[in-house]
Amino acid sequence: MTDPVPASPAPVPAGPAWTAVGNASEWPENGGRLARVGARRIGVYRHAGAWYALKDMCPHAGVSLVQGPVHDGQVMCIGHGWTFSLTTGEVVRGPSGVKVGTYPVRVVEGVVEVEV
Ligand code: FES
Repeated sequence: MTDPVPASPAPVPAGPAWTAVGNASEWPENGGRLARVGARRIGVYRHAGAWYALKDMCPHAGVSLVQGPVHDGQVMCIGHGWTFSLTTGEVVRGPSGVKVGTYPVRVVEGVVEVEV
């Protein structure tokens, strides 16, 4: 008598994964850098001792947000001056109800990682 063949484990769906985007020492103390993860353009910011990641495209006219200045927890779009919360991606100065996507970000042993 032979033992039954065990069933194959169910495939695990691929979910978000942490991706290294650079060394923390490469970031300005108060500003952002562009990271490319696959086809995504992500602005990764260091500000007031914390890290943030936003989709790098202004929903108004598509300007790269990471080129703008960072101040008081917000980044300002250099296109027309709308400002976006680094925490939520929501517009702070500009039309209400508009936002850009955010991503989890962390630093592990000096390496900045974004969960995509
Ligand atoms: S393109 Fe960003 S505010 Fe106009």
